[in-house]
Amino acid sequence: MTPCVSRCLHSSTMGLCPRLPLLLLSFSTLLVQEVTASEFKICAYNVEKFDSAKASDSRALHTLKKIVSRCDICLLQNVVDAAAVTTLLVSLNRYDNYSYQSVSSRSLGNSPSDMQQYVFIYRVENVNVTGQHQYEQKKSFVRPPFAVQFQSKNIAVQRFILVPLHAEPSQAVQEIDRLYDVFKEVSNKWNNTNVMFLGDFHASCAYVTRADKKNIRLFKSSFYWLIRDKVDTTISPDTNCAFDRIVVHGKPFLKAISPLSGQVFNYVKEFKLPTSKALEMSQNFPLEVTLKSSALLLQATPLLMLISVLAIVQSFLSAL
Ligand SMILES: *[C@@H]1O[C@H](CO)[C@@H](O)[C@H](O)[C@H]1NC(C)=O
Ligand SMILES: *[C@@H]1O[C@H](CO)[C@@H](O)[C@H](O)[C@H]1NC(C)=O
Ligand SMILES: *[C@@H]1O[C@H](CO)[C@@H](O)[C@H](O)[C@H]1NC(C)=O
Repeated sequence: MTPCVSRCLHSSTMGLCPRLPLLLLSFSTLLVQEVTASEFKICAYNVEKFDSAKASDSRALHTLKKIVSRCDICLLQNVVDAAAVTTLLVSLNRYDNYSYQSVSSRSLGNSPSDMQQYVFIYRVENVNVTGQHQYEQKKSFVRPPFAVQFQSKNIAVQRFILVPLHAEPSQAVQEIDRLYDVFKEVSNKWNNTNVMFLGDFHASCAYVTRADKKNIRLFKSSFYWLIRDKVDTTISPDTNCAFDRIVVHGKPFLKAISPLSGQVFNYVKEFKLPTSKALEMSQNFPLEVTLKSSALLLQATPLLMLISVLAIVQSFLSAL
């Protein structure tokens, strides 16, 4: 025990130990710092035709690197070639102390001139990939989801499945609805209902209206939409649409998410970029959401006990 506490225990009046409340305060501060330090961030970003040409633009690559390196897992959508991902990974692995790897779908799409991959970039130190699954049901999606199961001992929900979707705008209602079928398939496959859907669903404005919701099974009560209809996920000042979304299934997964952490990452403001430069990257902002750490309870318990003991000692002393 610190000298102040033991001195307090032996003194008979509070006046002799004015530092006790301060001590309590510093313990709570420590607790909060500990918790925020071990957050786990999942991001989703439509990088619009991310190809070798874009990856060789050093300014674009630098911006992308800064966006991706904020995240423990970052889903990139609309990746055109694997070489661009390799360039990004090399650059990321030089940039900070984490080791980044990727897991990618094959090229998906209906037309040879517009084939896209889903790519998850993740920190090897913080998360493992334990399975991957390409949804194959014919004629259900232009770019059918490529589900990946992740596992991390660092977070409260240790095993979870990410299901990406870059919806075809004209079929957004049907494709979002069919994510429910994907949910059934992947949750059965891995016996795991901790499923998160994420990406540019085009779930707003002209493509998905309020009236369409009744035709979308993903609006059932067991699914939680973390990015609300009023959020503007587009960069242009002329559009105000919640195209990009994060949706999670089930109360257990919802409880493992930091409250209100689902949001757009406004890198235009954060990195002080001109809007015109930002629009060269993408029309859309990246999304992010934070999962609670598994250490939250483990670390909190001894500290909370100590704080309670100190509080009791304090009230006992002040009663004397
Ligand atoms: C990387 O690790 C080194 C040594 O451990 C440290 O000095 C440096 O600040 C770290 N950099 C980042 C970006 O975390
Ligand atoms: C990843 O898997 C390895 C081997 O099972 C394990 O030792 C490690 O702790 C796992 N990493 C995380 C972050 O869970
Ligand atoms: C599926 O998961 C549940 C709950 O996590 C568990 O009780 C059950 O034994 C699992 N079933 C199989 C077949 O692994």
